[in-house]
Amino acid sequence: MSARLEAWQQRCNSQLEPLLGAPGSEFSSNATPLLERLFEACNYSLSAGGKRIRPLLTYAAAEAINSVAAERNAIDYAACAIEMIHTYSLVHDDLPAMDDDNLRRGLPTCHIAYDEATAVLVGDALQARAFELLTEAPGCSPQIRLQMVQCLAAASGARGMVGGQAIDVAAAQNLISAEHLQAMHALKTGALIQAAISLGALAAGADTKRLAQLDSFGRSIGLAFQVQDDVLDVASDSTTLGKNQGSDAAANKPTYVTQLGLEGARHRVDELLADASTALAPFGAAGSGLLEIAHYICRRDH
Ligand code: IPE
Ligand code: IPE
Ligand code: MG
Ligand code: MG
Ligand code: MG
Repeated sequence: MSARLEAWQQRCNSQLEPLLGAPGSEFSSNATPLLERLFEACNYSLSAGGKRIRPLLTYAAAEAINSVAAERNAIDYAACAIEMIHTYSLVHDDLPAMDDDNLRRGLPTCHIAYDEATAVLVGDALQARAFELLTEAPGCSPQIRLQMVQCLAAASGARGMVGGQAIDVAAAQNLISAEHLQAMHALKTGALIQAAISLGALAAGADTKRLAQLDSFGRSIGLAFQVQDDVLDVASDSTTLGKNQGSDAAANKPTYVTQLGLEGARHRVDELLADASTALAPFGAAGSGLLEIAHYICRRDH
């Protein structure tokens, strides 16, 4: 990863905890210790060391439209909001009622380190804070803030990530058509990847034409992201992944590997990377950050 991308990663990492905030002063100070465990669990999952691919896409999409100012601004709020939604989705994805996984980002999952009730509440709290952040995005008009909230809500909900997770849960045991598998992946993972890009572009003042061009890039790279995730579940190892390798096979999940075989799935990633690169052509050099992230998504080993 280039120094520029690492700097964006750092920028997001250093702002997640401050932007999450601390227990408020609304209640008597006697109640604060009871809330502290919830905030601690939120920070445990947020800071556990994800790749921050969605925030990186937010910064790079903003840069494709405009330069990214050095001081904290709406793009940072958007980047942290998308990472909070993503982290919430992982905390819930790992629960016993869903994938029942005990390792995430190299650490025990939230419900193992804390407890199931706390993990449910961590997801709920991160989700609510993400939307609150977008309403507070500095230097943005009310209209842009509203567009960002709409974008993230649509991508997160039943027509986006949550809908994809519902298909995933319903489609256990491998019985799913190629069309349904693509829809599941586009929703459970692609939708938030596309939103990460759109939020950065909106915060940077993109017009409708630019948003549509970025959406075409986002569709390809969003699907590629989950196909590569399926590949890594077979081809990597738990230490490198920071999560349990073989989890899909153990649960008999339908994936691109069960559908196309390992080589077929790898080939699909290559095709999607080519589509994504083509979609960036109108941006020229301004799209170089997005192009680097696209390669990273498709060539990563964790
Ligand atoms: C994992 O996402 C879950 C999927 C949507 C496939 P990432 O691979 O981006 O996880 P982190 O954020 O780096 O932990
Ligand atoms: C997760 O898909 C998608 C979401 C969390 C929305 P997976 O279940 O494949 O993700 P991992 O492999 O556990 O990270
Ligand atoms: Mg899952
Ligand atoms: Mg999972
Ligand atoms: Mg997976």
